[in-house]
Amino acid sequence: MILVTGGAGYIGSHTVLVLLEAGYEVVVYDNLCNGSREAVRRVETLSGKRVAFEQGDIRDRARLDEVLGRYPIEAAIHFAGLKAVGESMVKPLEYFDNNVAGSTHLLQAMADAGVFKIVFSSSATVYGDPGTPVFSEEMPTGTPTNNYGYTKLVVEELLKKLQAADPRWRVALLRYFNPVGAHESGTIGEDPAGEPNNLLPYIAQVAVGKREQLRVFGDDYPTADGTCLRDYIHVMDLAEGHVRALDALARIDGVGIWNLGGGRGHSVLEMIDAFARASGREIPYVVAPRRAGDLAQFWADPSKAKHELDWQTRRGLEEMMQDTWRWQSQNPDGYR
Ligand code: NAD
Ligand code: WQD
Repeated sequence: MILVTGGAGYIGSHTVLVLLEAGYEVVVYDNLCNGSREAVRRVETLSGKRVAFEQGDIRDRARLDEVLGRYPIEAAIHFAGLKAVGESMVKPLEYFDNNVAGSTHLLQAMADAGVFKIVFSSSATVYGDPGTPVFSEEMPTGTPTNNYGYTKLVVEELLKKLQAADPRWRVALLRYFNPVGAHESGTIGEDPAGEPNNLLPYIAQVAVGKREQLRVFGDDYPTADGTCLRDYIHVMDLAEGHVRALDALARIDGVGIWNLGGGRGHSVLEMIDAFARASGREIPYVVAPRRAGDLAQFWADPSKAKHELDWQTRRGLEEMMQDTWRWQSQNPDGYR
């Protein structure tokens, strides 16, 4: 059985679905601060299978012990944490507490329960600004431009040091690029609370009429159309990458680090255009000043995951947009 922390959230819920389809049994552990019980119910409907749901916080050691004691857990996929870049600059303590202290509590509870396999949600942000747009796992990590990114780097380092000290640990560090999209059914997807921080949820809310216009943060970058390029990855491809990484823990020694991205960049204007085509809606936008901390362009070198996990992205921009639109138009208020 797989413990999925943060399994009621965006990437977690899609991964739970893929795990169930691959034949795994799943316990979701989530405090619901940014996730939804309804997402887990819909995953059960989609898969026709049951998910054990345990509401709890990863900082609550007693509750973790209880859950780890109740189920025959063989590994954890650890999504739980806070992820809003801007908020992390205003509330550093909350971010280090949830993401770093939460992870240490989880790891202690796992070790005491004899569970030594973990897949961790990391981020391309750990590369910092390496001065080249293609990020590969061989490159050293850099200085993240925000506190959120620091928490990911700290937990990566913690996991490496833990594994070095105790070789029973097997660790997958998955560095996501820019997750977007939704399950093709349109019944599960990303449900941001309040104003979206990320590009695609913002575009989708403009398309559905919830927001007036998008602000494009800078059109004077040294790129073809002047807007930033990112490596957008369909959340179902990302979810499949987790199951491949989990399977790989059985055969790797120590720590595996894998980029999960598609290996090419799309600009903000391309994203607007593609979404307008998929939705048949106009996306009004204005050009605004650059956003602090944004790099002009980066994308994954995805070859390591291809060779070692036999994984690569299968879904292109059109599917990312169509699936986001299906989710957004069928659920204009998310899970509420
Ligand atoms: P999300 O907010 O939808 O999911 C996170 C889940 O964790 C939520 O359901 C939330 O309720 C839960 N959670 C938060 N703090 C918790 C705590 N202390 N105890 C228990 N549960 C807690 O976010 P997501 O986009 O699905 O991201 C999942 C993971 O992937 C996060 O660790 C995030 O940092 C990482 N990540 C996300 C992106 C992205 O762009 N979405 C990119 C790189 C990495
Ligand atoms: C994408 C592009 C913006 C909103 C962040 C985190 C990263 C990871 C993924 C983690 C940029 C532009 C955006 C808007 C815009 N998160 N934009 N108008 O910044 O690449 O990555 O999310 O868990 O760690 O840093 O993603 O979606 O915010 O921005 O023009 O209203 O869209 O400037 O070029 P980003 P994003």
